[in-house]
Amino acid sequence: MKNYIPSLRMVLLAVLAVAVNYASAQTKNDAIKMNVFVTQLMSKMTLDEKIGQLNLVTMGRAITGSVVNSGVESRIKKGEIGGVFGIYGAADVAKIQDLAVRESRLHIPLIFGLDVIHGHRTIFPIPLGISATWDMDLVEQSAHIAAKEATAEGLKWVFSPMVDIARDPRWGRISEGSGEDPWYGSQVAKAMVKGYQGSSMTNPDAVMACVKHFALYGGAEAGREYNTVDMSLIRMYQDYLPPYKAALDAGAGSFMSSFNTVNGMPATVNKWLLTDLLRKQWGFKGFVVSDYTALNEVTSHGLGDLQTVSVLALKAGLDMDMVGEGFLTTLKKSLNEGKVTLQEIDMACKRVLEAKYKLGLFNKPDKSIDPEREKRDVLTDDNRKFARTIAEHSFVLLKNQAQTLPLKKSGTIALVGPLANNHSEMLGTWVIAGDPEKSVSVMDGIKNVVGNNVNVLYARGANITEDSLLGARAFALNNGQIKDKRSPKEMIDEAVETAKKADVVVAVVGESANMSGESSSRSDIRIPESQRDLLKALAKTGKPLVIVLFNGRPLTLTWEDEHASAILDAWAPGTEAGNAIADVLFGNYNPAGKITATFPRSVGQIPIYYNHKNTGRPYSGKGPAKFKSDYLDISNDPLYPFGYGLSYTTFNYSDVKLNKPSLKGNEILKATVTVTNTGKYAGEEVVQLYISDPVASISRSVKELKNYQKVTLQPGETKEVAFNITTSDLKFYNNELVYDWEPGQFIVQIGTNSSDTHTASVQWSK
Ligand code: NOJ
Repeated sequence: MKNYIPSLRMVLLAVLAVAVNYASAQTKNDAIKMNVFVTQLMSKMTLDEKIGQLNLVTMGRAITGSVVNSGVESRIKKGEIGGVFGIYGAADVAKIQDLAVRESRLHIPLIFGLDVIHGHRTIFPIPLGISATWDMDLVEQSAHIAAKEATAEGLKWVFSPMVDIARDPRWGRISEGSGEDPWYGSQVAKAMVKGYQGSSMTNPDAVMACVKHFALYGGAEAGREYNTVDMSLIRMYQDYLPPYKAALDAGAGSFMSSFNTVNGMPATVNKWLLTDLLRKQWGFKGFVVSDYTALNEVTSHGLGDLQTVSVLALKAGLDMDMVGEGFLTTLKKSLNEGKVTLQEIDMACKRVLEAKYKLGLFNKPDKSIDPEREKRDVLTDDNRKFARTIAEHSFVLLKNQAQTLPLKKSGTIALVGPLANNHSEMLGTWVIAGDPEKSVSVMDGIKNVVGNNVNVLYARGANITEDSLLGARAFALNNGQIKDKRSPKEMIDEAVETAKKADVVVAVVGESANMSGESSSRSDIRIPESQRDLLKALAKTGKPLVIVLFNGRPLTLTWEDEHASAILDAWAPGTEAGNAIADVLFGNYNPAGKITATFPRSVGQIPIYYNHKNTGRPYSGKGPAKFKSDYLDISNDPLYPFGYGLSYTTFNYSDVKLNKPSLKGNEILKATVTVTNTGKYAGEEVVQLYISDPVASISRSVKELKNYQKVTLQPGETKEVAFNITTSDLKFYNNELVYDWEPGQFIVQIGTNSSDTHTASVQWSK
C-alpha cells in the first residue's frame, strides 16, 4: 500500500506538469486564434494595403536623418502606413489612430512607437548609468515606469533596449547601452524587456520592446558612428551576440536592424543575420524593423538602387521599413517583375499584423487610449521618487582621497562649472518627451537637501567648450551653444575668487548631453579644454576639489585622477539629477555604482576591455621589457577597470573558499568569500565572480564575469557571499562554434572589480 502513496514531490511535479501543459496549450490556443484572425484579415487585403503595413513613418518629434515623411494623415486613410513614431500624447495619438481605425478601408490600427530610452516623461539616468547600478530590480522597474508613462500617452512600442556591446568609448552611443560585458549586458537586456512588456503586452501599461541595433553596431571601426563592422564569428557569438539573444529569450516582440555592415553585408539586408541567425537558429517569432532610412542607405553601402536593396531586404527578413519608404514605393513593381514573391510580402505583413494583435490593438483600438491616465500616471511624485533613487544608485565614486566625501552639512562650498546651475543638461542624450524645465539642477538639489545650513557660492567658471569645431558639431541641433559672453579668463578668475572664499570646491563639469548618443563620436575623450582649464585653476587654490562628472561615455581622466580630491561620476542623471547628486555629496546615500565600461588612460589604448585575450607575449606589468605586448609610452592598465567603483566605506574580502578541489560532470561548485565592512558608513558592495579557463581548445579571455551579488553591510558587519557555479558557467564557443565546456583547470576569482580579485583553482572533469 505504502508504495502507492505519492510523495509530496511527485504531487508537486504532477501539478507542475499539468500547469506547464495548460500554459503551453493556452499559448498554442492563442497562437491558433491569432493565426486565424490575421489570415482572415489578410484575405481581405489588397497588395497595396499589405505593403502599407510594412511602412513606418515619423510625424516629426524624433528626426535622426535627412528624410521626413509628408502627407502622413491622408496616406493613413489610404492604408499606406502601418506604423507611426515621433508623436505622443493621448489626444494627438488618438486623433491619428482614428484616421486608421475609422477612415481606412479595413480599419487596421496603427502601431505607435517612440524612442523611449531611459524613461518617457520622467527621465532616469542614461542607460550606461542605469547599468552601473548592478541592480536588476531597479533596471526592470525603470522600464516598467517608462512603459506606464508611454502607454498613458498612447504609445505601445518603444525602440529599446539598446543592447549593443561597446568596447570603444569614442563611440557616442556607448551611452545608450550597458557597456562592454556580454553576460552583464544580457542580464540588463532581460530585465528591460520584462519591465517593458510585463506579463502580457495587452496590459494597458505594457509596451512591445524593440531590441536594437541588430547587430554588432557597437563594433564600429575607430568608434566612428555608422562605421563598418568586421568581426570573427567566435567574437560575435562569444562577446557581442549574447545580449540580443537574452532579450529574445525574455520574449522581446521586435528587433531593429542596425545601420552598419556586418562582414561586408549591411545588417538591413543581411539574410544570415535576420533569417538564418535570428529566426532559424534562435527561433525569433516577432518582426524586424529597419533603422531610420537604413534601407535607403544600403544604396550608399554600394548594393544597388532602392528597388534592388528593397528586394534584398525583404528576402533577408526585414519586415518594416522606417521612414525611407523603399518598400512602399518599389515592392509592387518588384512583384510584377518577379523579383519578390507574394509569399514574401505576405510573410512580412503577417508579422507586423501579429505584433498589433499581440499588443491587443485590434481590441477596441480607438477606446484603448484613456486620457485620464495621462493626467494620472505621468511624471508622478512616485515616478520622480524612483528617478531619484535610481540616479543615486547609478553614481560611481571614482576617487575619494582622504574621505573628502561625504561633505559636511555646514560651512561654505563653491559650486562651479557650466553644469552646476543648469537644467537643460541634466537629462542626457535621447530624451524625446522629457522636459528639461522639470529637472532639478545641482544648485537646486543642494538647496533642497541642505537648505540654509550650507552657504553655497556659485560661479559658472567656463562654457561647455570654446572649441569651435566641437561646439558647432555637438550643438548643431540646438542652434549653437548658449555661451556666457565673458572671456574664459574672466570666468575662471571669478571661479577662483569664489573658491578662495569656500571650504571646498564642487565642480560640476564634463560632457553636455549632445556630446554622446547618436552621431556623437569623439576622438578626444577628455573633459573639454575650457573646463579642464577651469579645473586646473581651481586645483591651484589648494582647496579640496570635488569633481561631479557628467559624461555619456568613459572619459580619459588621468589629470583629474591625479589632482582632484574626489570624483563622483554622475553620468547624466535625469529629472531628479540635482536631488540625487546632493543626497550623495552630503552622505544621505552612500554610492555603490560600478562602471560597466573600462575607463582608459588615453584614447591610444582603445579598444580596451577587461575580458581580453592573453597574447603569446603578455606583459607582466613590471618594468621595461622588450618583445612583450605593451606600449612604449603608457601602461596597459586602464585608469579604472570594469566593475570598479568606491564607497564611503571600505570592504575587506577574505580568500575564496571552494567546497571541493575537484568536480565531475554536473556537480555544483560552491565558491564563498566573506566580505566585511571595515569603514564607518553602512554601504552596499557589488561582489563580482569571474572565471578563467587557462587551457582550452582555443585561446580564451583572461577572465569572464559570471555572476555578482549586491550586499548591504553595516559598519563592522561581515557577510558570507556564496556563488553556485555549474558547468553552464564554463561554456564557450569553440572553433566549430559549438557552445560547450572543456574539462581541466578553472580559476575562480571573486572581488570588488575585474582587476582586484581573490582566486582559487579547481579541476573539473567530464
Ligand atoms: C536612429 C537610431 O539609430 C535608432 O536607435 C532610433 O530608434 C531610430 N533612429 C528612431 O528614432
